[in-house]
Amino acid sequence: MTTPAHATLANNDPCWCGSGRKYKRCHRLADLDPERAVRAQAEREQAERRAAMFVRPGRLSPRREVPAHIPRPDYALDKHGRPKHRDSGRPKDAETIALMRVACKAAAEVLQEVGAAIRPGVTTDELDRIAHEGCIRRGGYPSPLGYGGSVMPFPKSLCTSVNEVICHGIPDSTVLKDGDIVNCDVTIFLDGVHGDTNATFLVGEVDETSRRLVYVTRTSLDVGIAAVHPGGKVRDIGKAIQSYAEGEGYGVIRAFVGHGVGRSFHSDPQVFHYDNPAARGDIVPGMTFTIEPMISIGDWHHEMWEDGWTAVTADRSRTAQFEHTLLVTDTGAEVLTLV
Ligand code: MF3
Ligand code: CO
Ligand code: CO
Repeated sequence: MTTPAHATLANNDPCWCGSGRKYKRCHRLADLDPERAVRAQAEREQAERRAAMFVRPGRLSPRREVPAHIPRPDYALDKHGRPKHRDSGRPKDAETIALMRVACKAAAEVLQEVGAAIRPGVTTDELDRIAHEGCIRRGGYPSPLGYGGSVMPFPKSLCTSVNEVICHGIPDSTVLKDGDIVNCDVTIFLDGVHGDTNATFLVGEVDETSRRLVYVTRTSLDVGIAAVHPGGKVRDIGKAIQSYAEGEGYGVIRAFVGHGVGRSFHSDPQVFHYDNPAARGDIVPGMTFTIEPMISIGDWHHEMWEDGWTAVTADRSRTAQFEHTLLVTDTGAEVLTLV
């Protein structure tokens, strides 16, 4: 038996229910009435059960260091993580493309190593350790570490986004459990260029609803890649993805886009995953950019955690994502982030 609220709370204390109202204006009468007290207790327990269904912030481990001999991107030398230079979204020269092939393959390998460690019981922090060490072992810098944001630079080397987290989840003491889905997003800065790729993994036995979400999201990426034609429009990519994913009954997250990538982590073009008239530009051979659709079981609205990074669906429905870095060729798209 828990202590009844009226035994411990004064009239003017904030109510136990978290409404922010004074106790006497909120649950005091209910607590004095035994029948209503029972109902209030049931409501409290249900609220707790509901909260336990969703992701909550865990504890961060100490910062992981990068050996001094590994070259850093410019933003990693800035206190706020702000890039000094930003690439144009123009087609890359042959040398940059050659470097990107290597960086993108390394990113894909690291993502594979992270994926191999996913099982019920593993923490997202352990996945971060694997990504961090995988990047360093290849002579690269884990691009997320110290990258600037609205509240603070990203504190870890990998993004881990569980269930209703859309993207940019911060690895911490959170333990993955049977039935979860988790997106891991790896970016490596190697020999002066970034390679960026992510995938959503199943943790143990996952229900059919979530497995289908993951399948449709993976296919959304394929549909986007198939829409890349030299001479075509960047806008075509989002058009194709939206028409497929919404046709399957899913929502396309709008707040986050694919992006030019190369010597800069993020540059033009902005690659919308839905048909946005604001999408700008032609698709030209030699361009390198990502496509990274985030698809939800519910609708496209999002909310941000106070950390300024973790984005969740407003309706708390599950969401998945897949990402590749692409090179536009004379005939279509070449996927660079393959092992
Ligand atoms: N890799 C992410 C992307 O696909 C960006 C992560 S930024 C970070 O664009 F700071 F959160 F790591
Ligand atoms: Co990206
Ligand atoms: Co990414």
